[in-house]
Amino acid sequence: MSRKTLLIVYHSMTGGTHQMAEAARDGALQESEIQVRLLHANDAQPDDVLQADGYVFATPENLAAISGQMKDFFDRCYYPVLDRINGRPYLSLICAGSDGSNAARQIARIATGWRLKEVAEPLIICTHAQTPEAIQAEKKISDADLQTCRSLGESLASGLALGVF
Ligand SMILES: Cc1cc2nc3c(=O)[nH]c(=O)nc-3n(C[C@H](O)[C@H](O)[C@H](O)COP(=O)(O)O)c2cc1C
Repeated sequence: MSRKTLLIVYHSMTGGTHQMAEAARDGALQESEIQVRLLHANDAQPDDVLQADGYVFATPENLAAISGQMKDFFDRCYYPVLDRINGRPYLSLICAGSDGSNAARQIARIATGWRLKEVAEPLIICTHAQTPEAIQAEKKISDADLQTCRSLGESLASGLALGVF
């Protein structure tokens, strides 16, 4: 039997979401039964979505929304995979300055359309950058927050391997 695949799709402008997505990947790799693919939103295609068994969507919140590249990924993939991935598990990781709730809500709505199954509350990590300079600077996510991302990735991969979702 072929190994199940966990697909992690991310976009990041200043590095925070990228670190979160990599941590989720590292956690998922603890589960040897699962193949893990980490794809930048620009590179992720409908076939990548179809061929996966579960998903992590990782995005910054920019202008009270998911980032433009994540939106482009969903725009390109939404109809080609609609009704072909029903019931598959997913979770979302949001990197935000101070809020993140709108990005989380948007992903939840898209995932509802895809009939995906949310297996954890959205994880929102706030970087607390307030000035234009701080907002545009490279981010460093704390070890504790990265550990939470690793745990979520590992839980999703374990659940996929066990077939509990
Ligand atoms: C153009 C722009 C708009 C932003 N708008 C929001 C926002 O609406 N809410 C929020 O919480 N953070 C906002 N931020 C802050 C980012 O979410 C924060 O810098 C985060 O670290 C970005 O993730 P990244 O490091 O993966 O790019 C914004 C940042 C930029 C550059």
